[in-house]
Amino acid sequence: MKKIFITRKLPDEIVNPLKEKFEVKMWHSEEIQMTYEELKTEAKEAHALWTVLSDKVDRELMESLPNLKVISNLAVGYNNIDVEAAKERGIVVTNTPGVLTETTADLTFSLLLATARRVTEAERDLRAGKWKSWTPMGLTGMDVFGATLGIIGMGRIGEAVARRAKGFGMKVLYHNRSRKVEAEEKFGFTYVELDTLLQESDFVVLLTPLTPETKGLIGERELELMKETSAIINVARGGVVDEQALYEALTTNKIWAAGLDVFEVEPVPMDHPLLTLPNVTVLPHIGSASIHTRMAMMQMNAEDIEAVLEDKEPENRVV
Ligand code: NAP
Ligand code: GLV
Repeated sequence: MKKIFITRKLPDEIVNPLKEKFEVKMWHSEEIQMTYEELKTEAKEAHALWTVLSDKVDRELMESLPNLKVISNLAVGYNNIDVEAAKERGIVVTNTPGVLTETTADLTFSLLLATARRVTEAERDLRAGKWKSWTPMGLTGMDVFGATLGIIGMGRIGEAVARRAKGFGMKVLYHNRSRKVEAEEKFGFTYVELDTLLQESDFVVLLTPLTPETKGLIGERELELMKETSAIINVARGGVVDEQALYEALTTNKIWAAGLDVFEVEPVPMDHPLLTLPNVTVLPHIGSASIHTRMAMMQMNAEDIEAVLEDKEPENRVV
């Protein structure tokens, strides 16, 4: 019987059907991250490895799993996996594109609104007993309706965010590796160079994958180009932004605020300088976290694993 190893505890209704055909071994906890060494040992005999986005799957790990045929990642992003090494070894990699697009776009827009209107800061103040009276200029933020939105990474989620922005009367600029001519014509989005987007946008939203090209894409130079009244929203990956440069830009008023769902190191260390700033709205990487979407993502992974183990083509092959 082929063996599946799952690095997090997943719901029975997703996992049990697989047990009818395969030997399934699952890590005991939904919350506790397996260490790299634990993964190497526990998954030793696996034909399929079902990972979450915080599992590092590099060449060394693949070499220590001699039976491995497929790695299925519970995320659309797969920067945690060395896909070149997988390809060389004939290991299939699958992810969860599309099914999380609208849910992640909802979260991106929530974070944008929360950042603009200082929602989490206001709630913190209220709970801390700081609401003494209605104040004319207290907790005032930035208008979203009618503002200019700049999306870097106009893929599935980028486009879903841009569609939402139209309902808020926003002008939508985008920068992407390739032009999206159809979306430009259909929705009125405007393609611009990166620097123009940074100079003209009130809200800059990052939605690229993390790759060697996008690592540190937003650094000191780029933040310098942004308006002093603007905010940056990162739902992509922490590594797309130079966090030290972001901290400097926020503390020297080069930009007005930031909304972050992702960090270079996750979970973000509690002594991280960005966490000390009131104009930074933070979330613990919850972009796709709706019940329906997470279940659908897991179902996709399960079907793709089953397909590969039965020598069929999976729906969501990365390599
Ligand atoms: P997607 O459809 O592949 O979109 C990514 C877009 O980024 C593509 O349009 C791509 O351009 C563009 N891009 C790639 N490299 C670029 C570069 N160097 N400069 C400019 N644009 C570049 O992926 P998606 O489904 O929208 O997901 C996007 C990313 O969001 C994921 O990879 C993941 O990291 C992140 N994400 C985060 C969460 C969360 O919970 N925070 C949830 C879901 C996804 P082309 O069109 O030319 O390929
Ligand atoms: C989440 O970050 C994902 O890539 O699905």
